Amino acid sequence: MTTDAPMRTAVLISGRGSNLAALIEAARAPGYPARLALVVSNEPGAGGLAHAAAAGIPTAVVPHRGRTKADFEAALQAALEAAGIELIALAGFMRVLSPGFAQRWAGRMINIHPSLLPAFPGLDTHARALAAGVRLAGCTVHFVSAEVDGGAIIGQAAVPVRPDDTPDSLAARVLSAEHRLYPACLALVASRQVRLEGGRLDWSATPAEGLLANPPA
Ligand code: GAR
Repeated sequence: MTTDAPMRTAVLISGRGSNLAALIEAARAPGYPARLALVVSNEPGAGGLAHAAAAGIPTAVVPHRGRTKADFEAALQAALEAAGIELIALAGFMRVLSPGFAQRWAGRMINIHPSLLPAFPGLDTHARALAAGVRLAGCTVHFVSAEVDGGAIIGQAAVPVRPDDTPDSLAARVLSAEHRLYPACLALVASRQVRLEGGRLDWSATPAEGLLANPPA
């Protein structure tokens, strides 16, 4: 495989898969630098599996229940290796991966999180953002490191908080931004315009500085 071949990418999901759907749509574009070669869910009933099937992307269900984290991750690794995966995009994947797994995929695994990190890592981000009274919310795509939601930031998109927002209304506004941000950030990583260097983002090779602040609507 030459370095110009689209990078074989696995998308890991646990649920409805709207970010997966956005990535599938983006990857249809000629010249998109990532090829979605596998979708893995830890939940057998994840709605997102249907998006993958409809797009003809191979799927694998790797359940986490009834086994140790080590067994789960070994099965995940085997599925990724069998599909020749080079890059992982976590998209609503709700399992915390071990530091060892994160280290194995360092620089080759990215995640989307529905807050402007480093604010509000973890769960219930929208309720916590509203409780904190922030005026801007948003989402972050970052390299996955051993620290949950703590790896080098690749891109962020901000949205306004409105006075009558509920966690659900804010989540919906942020989700629209996620659907624009994630395909743009995956493209930057898959085309090696951004890389992880010593735990920090090297984006000296990207001409797309504007993408990193806020992708166009
Ligand atoms: C998205 O908002 C994503 O950012 C979030 O889960 C949702 C999944 O939606 N991820 C996390 O909270 C990761 N800790 P989707 O299944 O429709 O893409």
